[in-house]
Amino acid sequence: MNAIEIKNLNKSYQNGLKALENINLSVKKGEIFALLGPNGAGKSTLINIICGITKKSSGQIRVFGRDNEADYKKTRSMIGLVPQEIATDSFERVINTLRFSRGLFNKPSSDRYLDSVLNSLELSHKKSNQIRTLSGGMKRRVMIAKALSHEPNILFLDEPTAGVDVALRKTLWSYLNNLKKQGVTIFLTTHYIEEAENIADRIGVINNGKIIIIEYKKKLLKKFGEKKLIFTINRKNKSINTINSIIKKYELKQKGNKITFNYTQNSKKDPASDLLSELNKRSIRFQDLEIKKNNLEEIFINLVQK
Ligand SMILES: Nc1ncnc2c1ncn2[C@@H]1O[C@H](COP(=O)(O)OP(=O)(O)OP(=O)(O)O)[C@@H](O)[C@H]1O
Ligand SMILES: [Mg+2]
Repeated sequence: MNAIEIKNLNKSYQNGLKALENINLSVKKGEIFALLGPNGAGKSTLINIICGITKKSSGQIRVFGRDNEADYKKTRSMIGLVPQEIATDSFERVINTLRFSRGLFNKPSSDRYLDSVLNSLELSHKKSNQIRTLSGGMKRRVMIAKALSHEPNILFLDEPTAGVDVALRKTLWSYLNNLKKQGVTIFLTTHYIEEAENIADRIGVINNGKIIIIEYKKKLLKKFGEKKLIFTINRKNKSINTINSIIKKYELKQKGNKITFNYTQNSKKDPASDLLSELNKRSIRFQDLEIKKNNLEEIFINLVQK
């Protein structure tokens, strides 16, 4: 069973705006899923529909196997939501907000649990402060603590690190990884590619209300982390056989004199320098050397511009 299963989901707002078009998406239990997309792509709309805050137009959504409308109370209790907008000027004290929120879901009170959440979010020292006296980054962490107050099975975070400094962003990432280790499924939206690259198991890209791609991060990076080495060889005075054997060995593509080598570089191996040293060793002259790099950011920009 998947944590979330979405089939043929459509959403048109009352003003006629089509915010989501035929979304099919599943989130596996225990994974960190990142939904990447530019402003207005439909990320918040999707999260809000899953969490039952916004009504869908058509389609089906299951949360741990249950329909999110027919079984709203049960599915909502399995969900923790950190909305994009943070409520800022609460006079309520941090711990009371958490207790109240936990109570809303009919969970027996447990300050032990709430204290452990505050502690892992480095908020213990602000436990008795009014929320309005906290910094922006702290308020955001309170929102996360609040979303976790009823021990949900899946946590939705709508742009959790917008406006958060680099250090805190990294702290939050490791916190989310810890939550994952405890078995909490995590669904987050972001427009920081770096964020998706750092913590996601799988990445979905959404643009104009449509999912463009859903893929394991490792596969995406492999696919898009590929580099191209392009060069030309002067075939005169050279043994064609030697050149052809290298072309075969490295699976090079050739078009006229132009040769292209597609490869993936990582910290352990650099296939391009292997190739170049082999060409040198065999005294094959090459020129017009050029390296082209595809990173996730370029790919993302290309995808959403289509
Ligand atoms: N209540 C609403 N009524 C009408 N249109 C809406 C409403 N809420 C959102 N929209 C529109 O739906 C589209 C998707 O908005 P949504 O907030 O889901 O985008 P998003 O991907 O979360 O963007 P951002 O990165 O800016 O938060 C936008 O065109 C937006 O203007
Ligand atoms: Mg949004």
